[in-house]
Amino acid sequence: MTNAVERALRLHESRQCAAEVGVVTPSRVNIIGEHVDYNDGIVMPMALPMATAIIAGGNTAGRYDIHSEGFGTVVGSFEEVSATSEGWFRHIAGSLRVLRDRGTLPDSLSLTITSDIPQGAGLSSSASLCVGVISAVSELVGDEIEHVTLARLAQRVEHEHVGVPCGIMDQLAVTATVEGCALLLDCRTLNFEHVRLPNELMVAVLDTGTRRRLDTGEYAKRRASCERAAAEIGMSLRDSALSDLTRVSDDIDRRRARHVITEIRRVERVARALHDGAYDTVGELLNESHDSLQHDFEVSGVALDRVVDNAQRAPGCLGARMTGGGFAGCAVALVHRSAIDDFTSYMASDRNEQRASAIYIHHPAGGVNTLRLG
Ligand code: GLA
Repeated sequence: MTNAVERALRLHESRQCAAEVGVVTPSRVNIIGEHVDYNDGIVMPMALPMATAIIAGGNTAGRYDIHSEGFGTVVGSFEEVSATSEGWFRHIAGSLRVLRDRGTLPDSLSLTITSDIPQGAGLSSSASLCVGVISAVSELVGDEIEHVTLARLAQRVEHEHVGVPCGIMDQLAVTATVEGCALLLDCRTLNFEHVRLPNELMVAVLDTGTRRRLDTGEYAKRRASCERAAAEIGMSLRDSALSDLTRVSDDIDRRRARHVITEIRRVERVARALHDGAYDTVGELLNESHDSLQHDFEVSGVALDRVVDNAQRAPGCLGARMTGGGFAGCAVALVHRSAIDDFTSYMASDRNEQRASAIYIHHPAGGVNTLRLG
């Protein structure tokens, strides 16, 4: 059991609520394939063990009683609870609305939510929360939802109730992953494959300590740029070649599209290189991805660039790049397992201009886990 689960159980019981269902939903880090999920692209995220834990049960007073460790309690009728629009609570309220539209929201509900995932760090704390709430309630009412439907419902929360026009990568990464493997996901067909991460490689998540929100408009602007470019080319960026870029009239849109076209190729090459054991190639492609995100897509930031630059020079590092929506948050590096100690002491060293505020070293975790408690 993770700490978040123990805390959620204790809290739920101290609130005198019946613990009927427990759900643990991981966070995720994207190894490669950034800002391509909403362009029909291919991505390769993996789950991280930092998780959201949710305990769910009925409510004898016939109300919705929701407690989130960091954000307090909201109690009331569906209308009262789902109207809550304070920060984090929008995700919970949005998940309840989506469940009501599906016809699977019970008349009363107690939820207790805890999380070990740093927020706004690019590790999908919000996808983890929405997938967790939807899974917990669905299990409670006996509605069996398969992975793609679950991910789509959680994505609807972001689109319709939070205002982030995100792709589907994060929701599927925290849902459909299996331990030890990254998820090679085709965002056009939603077919996926589990790609085992070789034992000799470890994934380092380097938190810059800087934070961002994706609902400030920059994410939506990037998406709109890609859509304009695809419309001018006359086909999806997934099917476009670099030579098609001459048809894009705006300079900025052209650079955004160039990132997408090259990034999709990089994901394909990383998948092949991992399979062939060509780890140096994998590392080079990660470095190229960062370069493209920094200069063509312009979603990096000063702290991210510095931490990536340091990581790329650190002992044992194959390659490093920013990860997630960007602007702030975390970078990801692939590191030889045998050099992990040297890598972390280099990254934590005072001599470094940009130390990571936290370093998480992991091998891939599994996706959402739902348990009947009683
Ligand atoms: C955020 C979004 C994802 C994806 C990434 C960038 O995490 O939620 O859908 O677009 O940014 O790759």
